Amino acid sequence: MTGRIRNPRIARKLTSAVEAANLVKPGANVGMSGFTGSGHPKRVPAALAQRIAEANRTGEPMRIGLWTGASTAPEVDGVLAEADGIDLRLPYQSDPVTRDRINSAALRYTDMHLSHVAPRVWQGFFGRLDVAIVEATAITEDGHLVPSSSVGNNKTWIEQADQVIVELNERHGDGMEGMHDIYYGTALPPQRKPIPLTRPSDRIGAAHLECPEDKIVAVVRTEEPDRGTAFRPPDATSRGIAGHVLDFLGEEVRSGRLPRELLPLQSGVGNVANAVLDGLRTGPFRDLTAYTEVIQDGMLDLLDAGVLRAASATALSLSPAADDRFHDGIADYRDKIVLRPQEISNHPEVVRRLGCLAMNGIVEADIYGNVNSTHLMGSSVQNGIGGSGDFARNAYLSIFVTPSSAKGGAISTIVPMVSHVDHTEHDVDVIATEQGIADLRGLAPAERARLVIDNCAHPDFRPALHDYFARAQRDSFGLHTPHLLDESLSWHHRFVRTGTMHSTPE
Ligand code: COA
Repeated sequence: MTGRIRNPRIARKLTSAVEAANLVKPGANVGMSGFTGSGHPKRVPAALAQRIAEANRTGEPMRIGLWTGASTAPEVDGVLAEADGIDLRLPYQSDPVTRDRINSAALRYTDMHLSHVAPRVWQGFFGRLDVAIVEATAITEDGHLVPSSSVGNNKTWIEQADQVIVELNERHGDGMEGMHDIYYGTALPPQRKPIPLTRPSDRIGAAHLECPEDKIVAVVRTEEPDRGTAFRPPDATSRGIAGHVLDFLGEEVRSGRLPRELLPLQSGVGNVANAVLDGLRTGPFRDLTAYTEVIQDGMLDLLDAGVLRAASATALSLSPAADDRFHDGIADYRDKIVLRPQEISNHPEVVRRLGCLAMNGIVEADIYGNVNSTHLMGSSVQNGIGGSGDFARNAYLSIFVTPSSAKGGAISTIVPMVSHVDHTEHDVDVIATEQGIADLRGLAPAERARLVIDNCAHPDFRPALHDYFARAQRDSFGLHTPHLLDESLSWHHRFVRTGTMHSTPE
């Protein structure tokens, strides 16, 4: 018997991916592990997708509700969406096939704050959870599960599901044992108690996921790696953004608003956020900590460089090269990294208590500082809000970063009015583009608008934004937050019609 299954009764439940997938009934709600391309089951979803495709071909349509931690990978979201096997998807995705299906209304998508998922499931909003399919690196004598490279919502899935299918990933060996911290003290009001976490490195829970032995109906072996994607190396634009953010943080230290070792960092997903981390590696700050959602390549680099001393997250999200590096140094990383359930990694109470510095990428911002993180042209979802709202509203300082233009200069990411709102002006402290930075704290709307246009907008769009704002100050219904309602979304409308936001196509 493999040393990875230390309970002989559970070892007898070893089976094939196909047999495990056959346990999922049509219409079932399935809670899967997986967060930003890590810790998702690698084999059962593919077998399930094949079964669904076959059922759909033979006129007995089958679909499931797919609940995860966050985005997964082509072998989960991709294959299930391709097979037309998903009825409802939550809470975050970044898969191109799934995205197309959502945007053509072929599947329902509930995009929500990641810290809200577990409580909403406990409150019963999504119905009963039938099956949990969870990746683990070992099963203990008591039948408990040692998680793998993400924790996500696994605690809730196991507690709520009638049946649990375990994908035992032997690739990780026992290197990850002790890296996780599963807190069992959450409860819905009025029973809830303060979460006793005061430093990012604190451990307040168990090293494994508790799982009643009789819930486990199948165990499937795998050795397949995670599916993290490589980031684009920082280019001039992202280096420019990072430079402005670093200068700004330095100024905050000099003014006494931040300590020299800063406050716990939260860094969002995406190429730009990763570039900011790269800037921190060579910047002046030392002895940093992170209380964040994902540890991506840039965070690992900071740990390796000794710039970061401790990082708390719910998942790793590493490129293949960084993943290899992580495995080579896993014993060392285990002392510095804590992986927690996402309702704790993203918990507003903890984020506010620790005073996180939140840095997240966006689709667009408007001249008053409202932010759209999710929708292209107000209607086509890109990924989802993820944890950006959990952090932005509750952080000590909330910074949003973006290049000032997109699609080869056809789109201004600074617009008169955002076409979809994820973060209101009240949750946005700072906006940074490669053009500069706008510190919006303490400013009234008109002051914000001038600063955002002057400091953040691309020079090609700046005159048109000034023109809009000047005319709005003259003709708006009210002058507190001036707008021309018949024109405020005309930039988006123009792009949809002509392929550019420029008024004279170039
Ligand atoms: N209008 C239309 N398209 C836009 C756009 C805009 N205003 N801004 C960006 N895009 C497009 C880019 O052109 C690119 O498209 P492509 O893939 O076809 O090249 C795509 O959106 C991604 O943009 P990119 O510049 O590579 O940014 P990124 O990798 O830094 O990601 C977000 C930016 C907003 C998509 C990403 O940060 C995100 O999903 N955020 C929401 C979730 C979040 O913040 N999670 C973190 C919480 S811990």
